[in-house]
Amino acid sequence: MLASMSIFPIRTFGDPVLRSRAGEVAQIDDSIRRLVDDLIETMRDAPGVGLAAPQIGISKRVVVFDVGDGPKALINPVLLETSGEWVFEEGCLSVPNRFWPIERPAFARARGLDEFGEVVEYAGEELLGRVLQHEIDHLEGMLLIGRLERRVRKQALRDLREEALGLDQ
Ligand code: NI
Repeated sequence: MLASMSIFPIRTFGDPVLRSRAGEVAQIDDSIRRLVDDLIETMRDAPGVGLAAPQIGISKRVVVFDVGDGPKALINPVLLETSGEWVFEEGCLSVPNRFWPIERPAFARARGLDEFGEVVEYAGEELLGRVLQHEIDHLEGMLLIGRLERRVRKQALRDLREEALGLDQ
C-alpha cells in the first residue's frame, strides 16, 4: 500500500459518470496503484464488497472487491464465462439502502490485470460470481437497476426520482 490512501465520496444514481463506459487502462503505473488503494480504502469505509472506479468519479476500467478473503483488484477486466442462474438481494453503494432480488448467472469467471500488470483470473459462484458481474457492469455504465425486470425497473426509477426531489416524506 502507498502511504497516501484516501476515502472518496461515492457517486450516486443520477451522476452521469455512472452511465458512461469507462476507458481502458493503457499503462499500469503508480497512479493506477494509488487508484486501487483509494478504491480499497473507500470500499472498506463504506463498507462494501466491491467498488468500481466510476463510483468515485474516475472513468477507468478498474474494480476492487473483497468477498471475505482480502481485497483484490482487476484492471481492464473481461467476463470470460457465466453459467447457471441465481436470484440474490442485490444492492449497490451508488444506490444506497436499496435492494432488489435480481437474477443473474450463478457462476462467473473474469480475467484482468492486477495492480502490478500480471494477468489474474477469478472465478466463483454466489457472492464472488455476483460481485464480478456487478462491478464489470459498472465499467459499461450499467447500474443494477438496468438488470431489473421492466416493470420493477420503472417503479424503482420512479421511487428514486421522487426521493431525489424529496417527495418521499
Ligand atoms: Ni455497484
